[in-house]
Amino acid sequence: MNASRKLFVKSFGCQMNVYDSRRMADAMAPHGYAETADVEDADIIILNTCHIREKAAEKVYSELGRVRRLKEEAAAEGRRVIIAVAGCVAQAEGEEILRRAPAVDLVFGPQSYHRLPDLVTRAERGEKAVNTEFPVEDKFDRLAAPDPSAIRARGVCAFVTVQEGCDKFCTFCVVPYTRGAEMSRPVEKIITEVERFAAAGVREITLIGQNVNAYHGEGPDGRPWSLARLLERVADIGGIDRLRYTTSHPRDMDDDLIAAHRDLPKLMPQLHLPVQSGSDRILAAMNRRHTRGDYLDVVARLHAARPDIALTSDFIVGFPGESDADFAETLRLIDEIGLSGAFSFKYSPRPGTPGAEMDDQVDESIKTARLHVLQAAIDRRQEAFNRACRGRTFDVLFEKPGRYGGQLVGRSPYLQPVQVTAPASIIGEIAAVTITEVASNSLFGALARPSMRAPALLGAGA
Ligand code: SAH
Ligand code: SF4
Ligand code: F3S
Repeated sequence: MNASRKLFVKSFGCQMNVYDSRRMADAMAPHGYAETADVEDADIIILNTCHIREKAAEKVYSELGRVRRLKEEAAAEGRRVIIAVAGCVAQAEGEEILRRAPAVDLVFGPQSYHRLPDLVTRAERGEKAVNTEFPVEDKFDRLAAPDPSAIRARGVCAFVTVQEGCDKFCTFCVVPYTRGAEMSRPVEKIITEVERFAAAGVREITLIGQNVNAYHGEGPDGRPWSLARLLERVADIGGIDRLRYTTSHPRDMDDDLIAAHRDLPKLMPQLHLPVQSGSDRILAAMNRRHTRGDYLDVVARLHAARPDIALTSDFIVGFPGESDADFAETLRLIDEIGLSGAFSFKYSPRPGTPGAEMDDQVDESIKTARLHVLQAAIDRRQEAFNRACRGRTFDVLFEKPGRYGGQLVGRSPYLQPVQVTAPASIIGEIAAVTITEVASNSLFGALARPSMRAPALLGAGA
C-alpha cells in the first residue's frame, strides 16, 4: 500500500452524483488514496458525469481534453495518471467514450462504482476497462464507510441516498436508462449511515433519491416503510437537528408525507417539487401522469399542513408541441403556486428517449425566448420571497467561514445562504439570526440572541 497516492473526483451532476463522488473517494481510502482538490496532484482523475441535458454531457469531453494533457505531462516525468469516466454519461455511452477519448483508462456507471478498487488495479496493470452493467449485488453493501475525519472535512450538512433509479419514464428524461430501475435501501442501512454522520458532527441530513418520495425500503419489521416513516425514524437520531428530502414527484406526495410536514419540527419548511409545465396537454405528452390541477391540490395540502412552507420547482420550456398558449399556462401556474425559486431549462432532446423522436420539435430561438421570460418571472418571485425575509428571525445552521474576515455563512430553513458576523466557534451550531439586509442570492443578518458558545457577543450589540 502506498499512502501517498492522490485521487481527484469532479462532479458534474445532481446531488446524487455528488454523493456518489464521495463514496468513490471513500472506496479508495482503504487502498491508500487520499482525496485532493488539486487535479494536477492526482494519480487518479475521476470525472463523475451527468447526461441529463446535452450541454452537461458535452462538458465532459472538453474536460477530458484538459486532463489528457496532464496525463501526458505526468508520463513525460515517468508518472502514471489514471483517467476514469464515471456516472451517467459513462452509463449511456460506455465503450464510445474510449473511442472518442483514448486517454481514458476506465469507464463505469452509477451502479458499478463499488468495483472501483478492482478497476484501478487493472488500470495500474495497463488494462482498459468498461463496466456499465447493472450488477445483481448492491453497491451499498460493498462500499467502504467514510472515515469520521473525511465526514468532518465535508461539513455539517450531508446527503444520504435512500432511493435510486426511476420507473416513471417521463418522455424527456434519461434517468430511468442511466440509473436503472427504482430501488429503495433498507431502513437499517440508512440509519447506520446517518448515525455515523451524526457521530462525526453532521447536523443536517438530506435524504436523496431520483424519486425520493416513492421510497418503500424494508423496515426493521420486514415490511416496506414509507418515506414519512423513515423521516420520523431519522428525526429520532441524536445530533441530527434538520431534515430535508429531494427530489420528489408530485404523484407520490401522499397523505402521510404531507402530515410529516405538520408533525416533524426537524423537517425543514422547504420542498423542491418539480412540475415541468403548467399545461395539461404538455404534461400528458411528457408522461408526467398528473395535471396542473393535481399539482395545485398537492400544493394546497402542503400549505394546509405547514403554512410557512416554501416551494421550489423545475420547469422545461420548448418541449415538443409546446405552443404559446401552453407556455402561457406555465407562467400562470407560477403565479398560482407562489414559488420561492425555481430552475428552468430549455428542452434538450436526449438520444433514446421518446421526446427526441416526437414531431413538432420547438425552434431553438423560441426556446431561448421562453426561457428568458420564464426565468425573469422566477427571479421576480425569488426576490420577493427574499425581500419578505427582512426583519424576520430564523434559525441558521452555520456551515463555514464567509468571504470576509469575521463572517460566517449559514443556511436558513429555506436553504438561503445567510452571512453573519459571528465567531468561528459556532460553525456547526444553530443560532437565531435576524435578517437585516437582502441581496438577490443571499441574506445578511445578525445573531438575535447570544449563543452559549459565543459569550463575547453579548456586548457586541448582536
Ligand atoms: N427526478 C427529478 C429530477 C430529474 S432531472 C424529477 O423527477 O423531477 C432534474 C431536472 O432536469 C428535471 O426536473 C427537469 O426539469 C430537467 N430535465 C430533465 N431532462 C431534461 C431534458 N431532456 N431537457 C431539459 N431539461 C431536462
Ligand atoms: Fe426523470 Fe421523470 Fe424519473 Fe424524474 S420522474 S427521474 S424527470 S423520468
Ligand atoms: Fe445527471 Fe445522472 Fe443526476 S443524468 S442529474 S447525474 S441522475
